Amino acid sequence: MLSGIRKSVSTAVRGAARRATVTTSAATKGTNKIGEKSEAVFHKEQKYGAHNYGPIPVALCRGEGVFVWDVEGNRYYDFLSAYSAVNQGHCHPKIIRALKEQADVLTLTSRAFYNDVLGEYEEYMNSLFGYDKVLPMNTGVEGGETACKLARKWAYQVKKVPADQARIVFADGNFWGRTLAAISSSTDPSSYDGFGPYMPGFGIVPYNDIAALEKELQNPNTCAYMVEPIQGEAGVVVPDPGYLVKVRELCDKYNVLWIADEVQTGLARTGKRLCVDHENVRPDIVVLGKALSGGILPVSAILADDPVMLTIKPGEHGSTYGGNPLACKVAIAALEVLEEEKLAERAEYLGQILRKELSELPKDLVKIVRGKGLLNAIVINEKHDAMDVCLRLRDNGLLAKPTHGDIIRFAPPLIMADDQMMECISIIKKTILEFE
Ligand SMILES: Cc1ncc(COP(=O)(O)O)c(C=O)c1O
Repeated sequence: MLSGIRKSVSTAVRGAARRATVTTSAATKGTNKIGEKSEAVFHKEQKYGAHNYGPIPVALCRGEGVFVWDVEGNRYYDFLSAYSAVNQGHCHPKIIRALKEQADVLTLTSRAFYNDVLGEYEEYMNSLFGYDKVLPMNTGVEGGETACKLARKWAYQVKKVPADQARIVFADGNFWGRTLAAISSSTDPSSYDGFGPYMPGFGIVPYNDIAALEKELQNPNTCAYMVEPIQGEAGVVVPDPGYLVKVRELCDKYNVLWIADEVQTGLARTGKRLCVDHENVRPDIVVLGKALSGGILPVSAILADDPVMLTIKPGEHGSTYGGNPLACKVAIAALEVLEEEKLAERAEYLGQILRKELSELPKDLVKIVRGKGLLNAIVINEKHDAMDVCLRLRDNGLLAKPTHGDIIRFAPPLIMADDQMMECISIIKKTILEFE
């Protein structure tokens, strides 16, 4: 097992080194130049940090709205938004103000005591999303863990599944983080390989396959189906219309909880407050994270009604930082920005334009354009490497990240102005046409 880990680490290092070399030469082609200051930043991270990421070689030092700047002073459109955490744009003034004001007063109490912000935040969350209760955590993966623990408790207390027999079903291609539980449900070898043994009680069904799901849910020990309404990390995979309605029906039929992982799709990203709102369906548990703080702090939460949420009793789950007053104030401001600036409508409107324009690119360069709202991806013809396209996009002033070798996700902040979107579209088209 150890040798397996060593092998994958050294492969990652070689990959990073290769990309850094590609970078410097590719950088001379576009307007933005990667220089010595950037190289120094890359070198320091490479030397002193674990090699668990292979970033696009660009060293950022400032962000504002839809833009980020690198240490050489080059400006870029951010077309990743920190994996949809920065829906409200970088350093949104209202959220930063909330952060500063609360930071001067009270930041952390732990849940050993009450604080005067948590209840206000929970009330606001429930009024917005229509659930009875909130359970606050920090990162997205903790939200997923919390949902799975809650589903197991409910299985034993309410569904009367025999002790330790509860099963949770996940979809092929799912991604919900990097903890041992999350990778135990993963079907991506780069997530799970070399990290066993894995969590028992997890099952997998193909995504977007209702017949296969029904078979799994017939098992009386199945207590939950956890699924992303659109699979983000798998490459923005959008299920057939009506899939979520059928998931709801099946979960009702077999007395199984439906957990919607909206960590990436939620909070206006896909053109609705929640992605499930596109089909007017209501999951039993919703997991939120990322944009819940607008990219300021790790803030996550799960939502559920009393018969599910109250199966967990004091002392059975928690986190030192979960529900801290600083995070709660930031989250209230981040949610208010989504509502006040009508960012769901904005995502829907801009997404239509982006997909229509990108669909005009030649099919031998861009095979597929897909997505909802401003969560989109293009699939590049296999003749080309998506990383090379992203490096060229960087040189032309736009940052995006490839996934699975041939897919590039396009997910800018939702606050983008119309003319900015048109400029981004022209950068993307020009860059891709350079590969003709
Ligand atoms: C759908 C989904 N769930 C959960 C997570 C995990 O979030 P975090 O990285 O904050 O733990 C991610 C992260 O990309 C995600 O896309």
